[in-house]
Amino acid sequence: MMNNPWVNDFPQLKNGMIYFDTAATSLKPQAVIDMVDHYYKDLSANIHRGMYEAAVEATTLYEETRETVARFIQADSEEVIYTRGTTSGLNLVAFSYGLNQLKEGDEIIVSELEHHSSFLPWQAVAKKIGAVLKFVPLDEEGRITIAAFQSVLTERTKIVALTYVSNVMGFITPIQEIISLAHEVGAIVVVDAAQAIQHLDINVKELDCDFLAFSGHKMLGPTGIGILYGKAEHLKIMEPFEYGGDMNEDVEKDLSTWKQYPQKFEAGTMPIASVIGLKTAVEYIQNIGLETISDHIEKVHRYAIAQISQIRDVSIYNKSSETGIIAFNLENVPSHDAITFFAEHNIAIRAGQHCAKLICDWLGIHSCLRASIYLYNTYKDVDYFTQVIKQAVAYFKELGF
Ligand code: ALA
Repeated sequence: MMNNPWVNDFPQLKNGMIYFDTAATSLKPQAVIDMVDHYYKDLSANIHRGMYEAAVEATTLYEETRETVARFIQADSEEVIYTRGTTSGLNLVAFSYGLNQLKEGDEIIVSELEHHSSFLPWQAVAKKIGAVLKFVPLDEEGRITIAAFQSVLTERTKIVALTYVSNVMGFITPIQEIISLAHEVGAIVVVDAAQAIQHLDINVKELDCDFLAFSGHKMLGPTGIGILYGKAEHLKIMEPFEYGGDMNEDVEKDLSTWKQYPQKFEAGTMPIASVIGLKTAVEYIQNIGLETISDHIEKVHRYAIAQISQIRDVSIYNKSSETGIIAFNLENVPSHDAITFFAEHNIAIRAGQHCAKLICDWLGIHSCLRASIYLYNTYKDVDYFTQVIKQAVAYFKELGF
């Protein structure tokens, strides 16, 4: 089997860890680490403020990142807002747009596949204004289908907030068709792309989504930086979400005014090093190519499903998933007990409800284990993982689980 050409770019893999937890956060390539390091070592200055060399270079890199991200998702650069991550991007939309635009009786469509960050802000906003939350009924596998979406779409639908790729099931939502149907009734669509951006080619203009949020740390970038894309027509009418330095135009005792978007949404000192690191992460992904990445994930994923589904006493909940996420349990073993066994064998996976309790309820389980595959995973990793799953099944059986 071919050698993985990217493994050596990831210093954390040198300690022998088998990393199947990219859906929680990706590893960082050396180039990203070097860029963050460069900021702290050579340019530790604030942006948009000083005129000295380090400040100017930091500002240039900060704004170049916006251009790089804009090209990556085919947006205009002023429609690219820096946030803390997907969660803060989705909260920004719910509170700055939703709270001001919705009224009592309006309908918001979500699904049981949502990560809490794509559901709880809308639940909170709906409660505050008396809007109605509606759930797309999932099909027998747990997928969002177009027909099911149509069954809840009405003239009263004002917001559709859906995940592009589920962080538990790995299913891809038919988001393009959903967006066009939602627009027919005048609703706007907010896409949670946290689990899509690292392997799918996203073109926001082609999708025609109204908002789309993702995190840097799940796409080889640093933590503390996320992106919210918003259509200019919406960003124009939205109030700032946070108030403070660098977002204001004129400040008076009785009335103040704000800069244009995106600056009006970037109050205070932003995570400059993380922004700059994100530029390198995007370039790293572009150099390899999203198609190459998704092909690799698909091959390793197919291999993993073939191996793991042969193990008795293991339930996989999303065998047909088209992305690299495997949700599973060892028969009768609570996921938090099982995960310790994997940790002891140097395998990084996640256990629990994955901040997506509604899909665990839908599956009728308390929690599950989740392995997620990315470009640095190999067939050899899968072979070792399969062996350890077999050992875990035997171990817990012997303990009487
Ligand atoms: N949202 C991340 C996950 O799914 C943390 O694990």
